[in-house]
Amino acid sequence: MAQLLRVLVTGAGGIGGVNFVRALRFGAEKSKIGIFLVGTEFNEYYIDLPDLDEAIKSPRHSDPSFLPLLRKLISKYKVDFLHPNPSSEAKVVANNLPQLKAKTYLPNWRSISPDKETIWKKLKTKQVPVPETRSVNSIDELEGIFKELGSPLWLRPKEGAGARLALKVNSAEEALHWIKLNLSQGRTKAIGEYILQSYLPGRDLAYDSLWYHGKLIAGSARQRLEYPLKHISLTGLTGTPSVARTIQEEKISKIGFASVKALDSEPHGFFSTDIKEDEGGEPYVTEVDGKWHTTAPLWGYAFAKAKKDNFYNVAFSYLLIGTGRKTPSEIRSSDNLYPEGYALIRQMDSGVILKDPKGKVTRIL
Ligand SMILES: Nc1ncnc2c1ncn2[C@@H]1O[C@H](COP(=O)(O)OP(=O)(O)O)[C@@H](O)[C@H]1O
Ligand SMILES: [Mg+2]
Repeated sequence: MAQLLRVLVTGAGGIGGVNFVRALRFGAEKSKIGIFLVGTEFNEYYIDLPDLDEAIKSPRHSDPSFLPLLRKLISKYKVDFLHPNPSSEAKVVANNLPQLKAKTYLPNWRSISPDKETIWKKLKTKQVPVPETRSVNSIDELEGIFKELGSPLWLRPKEGAGARLALKVNSAEEALHWIKLNLSQGRTKAIGEYILQSYLPGRDLAYDSLWYHGKLIAGSARQRLEYPLKHISLTGLTGTPSVARTIQEEKISKIGFASVKALDSEPHGFFSTDIKEDEGGEPYVTEVDGKWHTTAPLWGYAFAKAKKDNFYNVAFSYLLIGTGRKTPSEIRSSDNLYPEGYALIRQMDSGVILKDPKGKVTRIL
C-alpha cells in the first residue's frame, strides 16, 4: 500500500464538510489508498458527525488563533494536504498560504467569496449574462431603481450566502421595510450593503467545475428543484436543495465556464456558479465563487457509488491532483461529468437516493 495520505479538512462538521469527508473516505477505500483524516469544526455539536480519525473544535476563521491552530495540527499530524471547506475559512487559508506547511489546491484568495457587486461588475465586463443590478446607497434611491428596473426586484445584501436576507420585493416601500427591519434588528449595519436586481423567476441552476491552472478538468450542471423546509422560509430557498436533477445543456455549461473565466483568468481549484433563468428561459449568472457547493462532493460520491466508478468522485480527484498523486492528465476529464436526468433526493433523517431517468432508485445513504 502506498504511503498514508494525511489530510486536514476544516469546517468538517458542516453539511458540505461531511459530504467532502465521506467522498474522500470512499475514494481512498476504492483506490486502496490509506487515508488519515483530521477535521476541525467550529460547531461543538456537528464536530462528531463526519467520519474522522481526529476531530478538533476550532475557533471561527476570523479569530486570531484560527491559523495558529491549523499550523499546529499540520505539524502534529504530519498533514500532507489541507482542505478548508467553508468559503470563509478557505479565503483565510488561501490568503496565508506561506504560513501553512501543507499542500493545498485553492483558487487565488480574491476568487473566494467575492461580494455580489464585484461578481456582477467582473462578469458584465466580460459579457457574461448577469441580471441588471444596482447598489443601494441611500433610501432616496429606491424609487428611482424601481422606475429604472421595473418590478418585482430581488433585494439582498452584497455579502452572505445561501440567499441570506434575500427577498422578492414588489415596490420601493417593501424594499425599505425589509432593509429597515434588518438594520434595526442588527442583521446588517448599513443600507449600502444592499443591492437590487432584476427578479428572475425561471429555473434555478448550478454549475460546478474543477480547474487546474486555467484548464477545466471536470464540469457538471444541475437544476435545483426543491429546498428543505421551503414552506417555512420567505423565499422558499434554504441554502442547499433537497431535490436537484443533472442537466447537460451546452448553453448552461458555456455560461458556467465563461463565468469562472470572467472571475479568474487562471482558475485553479474548485468553483461554483449559480444561474437563474428569466421568464423566457434566458440564463443569467447570479454568483460565481471559488468554493465547493454543499452537494458537489455528494454528487460525486453518489455517482461513484451507483456506477461503481471513482472517476465520478470529484472530491477524490481533487485530492489526488492536489497532493500530486496524479497529474490532471491521469484523471479522465469531462465537461459534463454526470449523465443527464439523475435526481439526487435528500431530506433530513430520510437518507439520500439517486433516481435515474427511468425511475430506478439507488440508495446512497
Ligand atoms: N435575481 C434573482 N432573482 C430571483 N432569484 C434569485 C436571484 N438571484 C439569486 N436568486 C436565488 O437565490 C439563490 C441564492 O443566490 P446566489 O446568487 O447563489 O447567492 P448566495 O448563494 O451567495 O446567496 C439562487 O440560487 C437563486 O435561487
Ligand atoms: Mg449561491
